[in-house]
Amino acid sequence: MSPIRVRLTVAGAAALALTTTFAMTNAHAVTPPRAVTTPHAAPADTTYTAAEVLAGVKKNSTAANQVNTKPHINTMTRAMNVNVYQVASGVYAYTSSMAIDDDGSDPDPDPDHQGDTTWHDSSGKALAAHHVPFYVLGDDCWDRKTPCPHFFYKEHGMSGRQFALMFYKGKVIGSIFGDTQTANNQTTSDNDSRELGEASVKAAQLLGIPSSGTTGGVDNGVTVVMFSGPSWVVNGTNANLNANAQVKVQQALDSLGAAMAGGTPPPNGNVFEAETGTLSAGGTFDSNHAGFTGTGFANTANAVGAYVDIPVTAAAAGTKTLSFRYSDGTTSARPATISVNGAAQGTLNFPTTANWDTWANVSVAVPLKAGANTIRVAGTTAAGDANIDSVTVSP
Ligand code: GCU
Ligand code: CA
Repeated sequence: MSPIRVRLTVAGAAALALTTTFAMTNAHAVTPPRAVTTPHAAPADTTYTAAEVLAGVKKNSTAANQVNTKPHINTMTRAMNVNVYQVASGVYAYTSSMAIDDDGSDPDPDPDHQGDTTWHDSSGKALAAHHVPFYVLGDDCWDRKTPCPHFFYKEHGMSGRQFALMFYKGKVIGSIFGDTQTANNQTTSDNDSRELGEASVKAAQLLGIPSSGTTGGVDNGVTVVMFSGPSWVVNGTNANLNANAQVKVQQALDSLGAAMAGGTPPPNGNVFEAETGTLSAGGTFDSNHAGFTGTGFANTANAVGAYVDIPVTAAAAGTKTLSFRYSDGTTSARPATISVNGAAQGTLNFPTTANWDTWANVSVAVPLKAGANTIRVAGTTAAGDANIDSVTVSP
């Protein structure tokens, strides 16, 4: 890490937005994001620094969390050695190059400049590569398979202008999904949807990377952490998309930091949050123990048979692995009967975890039907269920 300590508080994020607004009126100025030192410490338990979150991302970039089964291509070096990891529920990270994309509505002297980008601003204009920090992903599944052996954004709840944090040499910026690489069948062609490692002129400027579309870029060391789901789509025009992305930086650091702080993230697959379900009498959906994903977790009553019913969906009928993310801060395990659509599948043990803020996964294989299914977790002891955060259904 750089000796520069990047700590963005809400005030810091506002300062960043101001800095970048200034840069827009000085189109030629290369304005890296400010490394903000915090004058007054924010609450330690809810504010995460870029360095802390990046360390967590690296720690969770494990083989068990790898999403792609075939390697992606580094856009600059062409090495086939880039992987994508689910570092927390619905959050996907890769580290690669930054090649410079100068496409879109801003003029650029690059002879390869194209006037359009795949995604547009909220008024329908091609994105402005000199004003909007955006990253580039594959346009389609190169292998034409479902599920895709590579990371394919459409399979992971992502669409245009999806927010990402981008880290480089001690800096962090907010960025949006702006353009795509189209596919063809040449392993290392200029346009290959397996490529990862390209972003706009503005993203490069903000991160202090040479930003020329013909001579700029960096071969390695840029980490992109993408946040899926509609709530992470950034709206705005070319005039304010940069500011709108930067104000989300601290929110993203805090949400990801909290999700990763609680031990093991959910495994790969489709994650269904317990708080979308229903509880037997006396249960509550709580958020008083850190590290949960989504908006909370299920806390059933302490009683034999106390349960949470979690709705899940499966694309096709078949045997799927259900992985339950849970915590049990007591000194006794909390076994539970797992039922699918009312049919008991057996008892699954939920061993103790270090405390209620530490989350672990246990799994069981069950038959699911295509479409909607209900998973019941019903405690078999007088303690009821462990606290249940989510269930992940294997692909
Ligand atoms: C504590 C804890 C709850 C948990 C409960 C239990 O009250 O805060 O989250 O569900 O213990 O033992 O079930
Ligand atoms: Ca409980």
